[in-house]
Amino acid sequence: MGNKINIAIVGLGFGAEFIPIYQRHPNANMYAICQRNSEKLNQVGDEFKIEKRYTDYDQLLKDPDVDAVHINTPIPDHAIQSIKALKAGKHVACTVPMATTVDECRQIVELVEETGLTYMMMETVVYAREFLFMKELYENGELGKIQFLKASHQQDMDGWPNYWPGLPPMHYATHCVGPVLALTKGEAEYVSCFGSGTIRKELQAHYNSPFAVESTHIKFRNSDLSAHVYRSLFDTARQYRESFEVYGSKKSVEWPLVEGKPLIVHTAKRPEPQIAEEMHSPDYAHLLPEPIQRFTTKGVYDTDEHQHLSFVQGAGHGGSHPHLVHEFVSALAAKREPFPNARQSANITCVGILAHESAMQGGKQMNLPEFTLEHVQAENKARELV
Ligand SMILES: NC(=O)c1ccc[n+]([C@@H]2O[C@H](COP(=O)([O-])OP(=O)(O)OC[C@H]3O[C@@H](n4cnc5c(N)ncnc54)[C@H](O)[C@@H]3O)[C@@H](O)[C@H]2O)c1
Repeated sequence: MGNKINIAIVGLGFGAEFIPIYQRHPNANMYAICQRNSEKLNQVGDEFKIEKRYTDYDQLLKDPDVDAVHINTPIPDHAIQSIKALKAGKHVACTVPMATTVDECRQIVELVEETGLTYMMMETVVYAREFLFMKELYENGELGKIQFLKASHQQDMDGWPNYWPGLPPMHYATHCVGPVLALTKGEAEYVSCFGSGTIRKELQAHYNSPFAVESTHIKFRNSDLSAHVYRSLFDTARQYRESFEVYGSKKSVEWPLVEGKPLIVHTAKRPEPQIAEEMHSPDYAHLLPEPIQRFTTKGVYDTDEHQHLSFVQGAGHGGSHPHLVHEFVSALAAKREPFPNARQSANITCVGILAHESAMQGGKQMNLPEFTLEHVQAENKARELV
């Protein structure tokens, strides 16, 4: 790798959002794009002036100039494509979730260990401005001792195509599991999940998954903390809400019930009218290199040169996109682990996979596999050195 890391973006729906950010990142070269339909591939390539274009992912992986792939394809492809990329010697950034089975997560973690390559799951909520605000309060000690964490991700996905109908809610749980684990850099040790309510019979048939809501408790490893996360996808009247709440001994912060409203910060031991305050999170652009700072408040649509675009999705996810790009690229440039790395991504993703299994077995406690835990990985490394 030279000074700049050659990035290839795979999947150009949501994925196209990231092109102008990589193009402006000082350590990245937005080198290639890939998607199966050549008409849209060329439309995106022409728009962003990217010459290297692939309709076949396997051909892209044969290109020796590709240093890293950023995968934004449909969920069932994430693990297969990540595994292929690592085997081809490429670093991987992949949109959520990491995989749909525990075994796929294990394969990715093992490949990263064997090859020394980098893997990062591009979880948006842990780089959203609301999360960064709570993290700042936590790291400054303003929250006091953390006592409890809670998160939800509800979305009515009726009518979405392909693999979406009937998807078990906890199979796409990283947006709520990610923040509760990320705040204290905690690890999940075991989970128990209850299903609640019932979705329509025709939806149940796809994954043999009956529940309208899945509600999970997560026990943290080596910690007195536990967290509660819940999700719904069908037949539940909640169009959209991502949320994250943290309860500390000094301050607690709650996500608003309606998108776009301010956070509520509660401070202990104050006179009643001063306990709860509404606060807007800052944008945290100062954490980023100057050329990509504008993407914390503006999406691709708002940049002067791309205002006419109709094929890019255009949601900023709390200003997280430039932070994700910066974390991945700067970790590669500095040869350090990104957050979340492969093992942390596996811990987050396996919480959801195992939570659904738990719900199907009436709330049975499910232990996270050892390969998702830091101490096991550290012990393995130490054994190799002896
Ligand atoms: N907040 C978030 O983190 C967030 C938000 C939106 C989407 N996503 C994730 O991003 C992914 C893509 O979502 P989307 O809405 O853009 O989906 P989409 O169906 O609109 O786009 C998928 C893209 O992948 C391409 N593709 C499919 N199979 C391919 C293959 N084998 N090789 C190369 N390209 C292939 C398609 O041509 C298309 O460009 C999903 O996994 C979704 O869950 C995450």
